[in-house]
Amino acid sequence: MTKGLFISFEGIDGVGKSTQLDLLVRYFEELGRTVCRTLEPGGTDLGREIRELLLHRKGEVAPRAEALLFAADRAHHVAILVRPALERGEVVITDRYLDSSVAYQGSGRDLGFDQVRDLSLFAVDGLLPDLTVLLDLDAEKAAARRSNTGAEPDRLERAKTEFFETARKSYLDMAAAEPSRWLVLDAEQSVETMQAKIRERVQGLLG
Ligand code: TYD
Repeated sequence: MTKGLFISFEGIDGVGKSTQLDLLVRYFEELGRTVCRTLEPGGTDLGREIRELLLHRKGEVAPRAEALLFAADRAHHVAILVRPALERGEVVITDRYLDSSVAYQGSGRDLGFDQVRDLSLFAVDGLLPDLTVLLDLDAEKAAARRSNTGAEPDRLERAKTEFFETARKSYLDMAAAEPSRWLVLDAEQSVETMQAKIRERVQGLLG
């Protein structure tokens, strides 16, 4: 049976993850692979309820409660959707995974990099992606891209530029510490250039 492949996309809000993700899904479909395209938070029915609480509920969410809600979403997502799809030999591509929690809650909210990483690994019982693509962009430029879409910012997106700059740095530190899992791309490059680099890296994983 074909081996499953697990790929996550990461980056601060506004860097253009979904465009790259769409193109990569198309690439695998053209290769004849079954793709499970998913996201966090909100990749399952339960997750969609948690997503509402995290992003759209009025009022404060304490930082540790926020971290635990993301972890709960992820635990369910991995158990119900991600692991079964990988066991069927599918390609799972997720818009955000546990590195988002390390960057946003661990570093951005200052809950501690190691603690949030440990909590996240507990949630997923140690499952790490084969490849994590980081789209890297300066926080000011990412904010400008977000405001260009005209969409109403959610609770997380209302955070200050400093929060996103801290999260960005945390991502870059993780990528530097584990280069075999990460691909870092400058998100100011063209859509085509970034996609070509992603596909080149993916080809190496397909063997
Ligand atoms: P979403 O609308 O999916 O944003 P994006 O399109 O940028 O991925 O909202 C997810 C928000 O939740 C985003 O601001 C990042 C944040 N987040 C965390 O803070 N921690 C996490 O573990 C995850 C998965 C997301």
